[in-house]
Amino acid sequence: MSRKPFIAGNWKMNMTAESGAKLINELKPLVKDADCDVALCVPAILIPAMVKAAEDSNIKIGAENVHWAASGAFTGEISADMLKEYGVEYVIIGHSERRQYFGETDETVNKRLHTALNSGLKPIVCVGETLAEREAGETEKVLTRQLSEGLKGVEDIKKVVIAYEPVWAIGTGKTATNEQAQETIAFIRKKIGELFCPKCAEKVIIQYGGSMNAANCKGLMAQPDIDGGLIGGASLKLDFATIVNFDK
Ligand code: 13P
Repeated sequence: MSRKPFIAGNWKMNMTAESGAKLINELKPLVKDADCDVALCVPAILIPAMVKAAEDSNIKIGAENVHWAASGAFTGEISADMLKEYGVEYVIIGHSERRQYFGETDETVNKRLHTALNSGLKPIVCVGETLAEREAGETEKVLTRQLSEGLKGVEDIKKVVIAYEPVWAIGTGKTATNEQAQETIAFIRKKIGELFCPKCAEKVIIQYGGSMNAANCKGLMAQPDIDGGLIGGASLKLDFATIVNFDK
């Protein structure tokens, strides 16, 4: 069982074409010898410029969302074909900020996921509990629901990357401990084994996300079930290269 680590950034609603291209150009030489897969998921309008900036490098560009329909009257949305036309490889689906602020549900996550898979985009599906849910002892119940509803009908689960992002750790500087992250991600892997097949679950890449940074990445990445990171704040600076080189 060998899973190639995968470190991805999520720029959220940050950067401009100019500052983003500058960062990518500075990152390129720093990450070129990475042993892991590397991606930066960027705001849709920055995609063409960031794909160009990342040319001839091992940095892949991803999107932060995708609509489920092929086209139509969906003002403000972006289709999978539009993303693919510009060289996008990855797409984040169901980030907790979209669930919290934009009405994303397990059902819409599932629709977006199927569209991504059918069009050849590599989906990064986010799951995670809020602080209230963790404190109420509902973490496993919430994750079970997000996984069983969100991943419903997927034929080849190995094509889906899962990002476990406890909502209370996102942007708060409060990282899950190595043990908490390992324990919860091991639970997610077990659940995927039950929902699909145990052998496939061993092949699924599961990232941790939530205040992962240059200082704590090594400890998190040393956990047996943690295969990578989905990095917010630290992906906006050169610290991202330190995380990508966690094993050096
Ligand atoms: P931070 O790394 O800023 O906590 O964000 C994590 C995240 O939400 C990545 O998707």
